[in-house]
Amino acid sequence: MKYAVISDIHGNLPALNSVIDDAKRNFIDEYIFVGDYYCDLAYPNEVVNTIKNIKGAHVIRGNKEKYLDGLLKSDQTEWVYDQFAPLYWNYRELDDDNLQYLIGLPEDKKIKTPNDNHKMHLFHASSFLFKSTNMGLLSSSQYAEKMIQGNFSHEEYLCYVQKILSSDDKIVEILDGLDTDIVIFGHSHIQWHAEIDKKGIINPGSCGLPLDYDKRAAYTILELNENAINILERRVPYNISDTICYTMKSELYTNAKTWCDIIFDQLNLAKDEINFFLRHVETTAKKKNDYSIPYSNTVWNEAANRWKSN
Ligand SMILES: [Fe+2]
Repeated sequence: MKYAVISDIHGNLPALNSVIDDAKRNFIDEYIFVGDYYCDLAYPNEVVNTIKNIKGAHVIRGNKEKYLDGLLKSDQTEWVYDQFAPLYWNYRELDDDNLQYLIGLPEDKKIKTPNDNHKMHLFHASSFLFKSTNMGLLSSSQYAEKMIQGNFSHEEYLCYVQKILSSDDKIVEILDGLDTDIVIFGHSHIQWHAEIDKKGIINPGSCGLPLDYDKRAAYTILELNENAINILERRVPYNISDTICYTMKSELYTNAKTWCDIIFDQLNLAKDEINFFLRHVETTAKKKNDYSIPYSNTVWNEAANRWKSN
């Protein structure tokens, strides 16, 4: 059995289409999607329709889908925060069917190969199973810090991941207690895989918004034979300008211009620029002695204007 493992599309349809084309060329049997299908780029319905049309796909929710629960229950007259403009736009843009589909997705899922030789546990963020462990060292911000200290290759990063995970007794203990031999999660937008005590751990990185300094769309092919687990990481080029031009013409851009401009930088650089922006908003809030959360529109817009002028 050959699975295509895909995560963190963030509304980037051209990236998803290129990944699916590549998966077809690699004779994939089944697709696994582990969350965050919409938000930052302007194709929410197209992405959801594409996933819904894949027969037998295994699909779970990410934190972006979880936000929809809260929006569904809230009063839209209270949707006044510029900080959340991308979420508001997506919520209103999503067709009813697609909204209900995303809200109804499970938080995690266990699946097995048809011959029962392998079992997989899918969830979106590593914190679902690995709370208070060294997994935090594999975040996108930690990746960027590490890059600032000195460039490293992907192979070097995979060795680092293997060392980080295998030296954490808590991670080894958690893996040991699982009734599955493979765990799959995304969320960090950093592609990696590791093997600890014969258990495979896969993070396919981000299809639509990679943050590991490689702007090509990421996904991972998992091939399961009777006794073997083969993992092949794929990076697929796609037309980034198509995504940016389409988004610039949408109301998402009109409603959340600064956010979208930073996202476009992220697409082109594959670096966690949003994280730097959020730190900048925090500094602005402190300077103004305004500690409200969500950030007030005064803080958000002042931070955005200063960010644009720098
Ligand atoms: Fe994400």
